Amino acid sequence: MNNIYSNIKKLNSKIQLKVIHILNNDGLIALPTETVYGLAGNAYSHRAVNKIFKIKNRPKINPIIVHYFTLKDASKDVFFSKEFLRLHRYFCPGPITFILKKKKYSNLNKLTTAGLDSVAVRFPKHKVLRKILKKINFPLAMPSANKSGKVSPTCAKHVYNQFGKKIIIVDGGNSTVGIESTVVDLTSGMSILRPGIISSSQIQKVVGKKITYKKNRKIRSPGNLKNHYSPGIPIKLNVKKAEKNSAFITFGKKFKNNKDVYNLSEKSNLEDAAKNLYKTLIKIKKKKYKKISVMKIPNIGVGIAINDRLKRAAK
Ligand code: TXA
Ligand code: MG
Repeated sequence: MNNIYSNIKKLNSKIQLKVIHILNNDGLIALPTETVYGLAGNAYSHRAVNKIFKIKNRPKINPIIVHYFTLKDASKDVFFSKEFLRLHRYFCPGPITFILKKKKYSNLNKLTTAGLDSVAVRFPKHKVLRKILKKINFPLAMPSANKSGKVSPTCAKHVYNQFGKKIIIVDGGNSTVGIESTVVDLTSGMSILRPGIISSSQIQKVVGKKITYKKNRKIRSPGNLKNHYSPGIPIKLNVKKAEKNSAFITFGKKFKNNKDVYNLSEKSNLEDAAKNLYKTLIKIKKKKYKKISVMKIPNIGVGIAINDRLKRAAK
């Protein structure tokens, strides 16, 4: 019998050996992280990183986040600042990415960093991913495991829907955060390039310094530009009530889950809403709705990250 999901694998010792073998030989593997699923390859290898750009159809100007197991591993490639070390101690491993200055003699492949003199560095928390990182001698270049511009996957089946059988997908359950990591630029001052579940006020508190949210960032986070996170159907924001022939995404107790109503969190919990956001967009797309309307989501804390993704998806 032809099992359609036969390339989705739970990590046991046999699969672990296979995954490490593939990564050691410049191959790609889809791996779970606490934020979203990623498409991983050796960040030091041109061959591996080139494959990532190809399979995702990702523009080469868009640098990829590099995932490390320990601080010591990262120290080979980037300079640490006082602010970075504080944030690392407080939040890592966890859903935060730091833009740091690259060392001249770093082995990172130029494609990984898109030729920039900075690197996006992350220390992920997911147990399965950490088991793999511990066993390899290089960091993993790992963008979200979706075609460029599409919604990021939060479970193994979402990845399958994007890439089918082209790669092995390691199943680590549903991503608990559900949206991508907060990206904080520490190369000059401190600014948020991509909001996430770790908020700017939390970061500010830990560092004891003011942070700025760069609204009109240009090349600094090219992947954040236009048409990202698109489910491929028109989205209308700040809608007050359900519209005809439209899926209605809601928040809070006013409109409960129902036919055509997709509530992100009836308890008005923004973290739950973040966790459900991509899953809901993907579910709605699958049901073949022609449009999506979205209720206003409070623009505080994690709500800032949710609204950021919704605005991009609506473009
Ligand atoms: O949660 C996450 O961060 C997920 C999981 C898989 O770790 N990864 C992820 O990667 O979202 P990706 O490639 O989809 O997003 C990386 C973002 C892009 O917006 C990219 O432009 C930005 O980080 N970035 C990477 N290197 C950068 C750099 N040196 N300077 C500024 N932005 C950078
Ligand atoms: Mg992405």
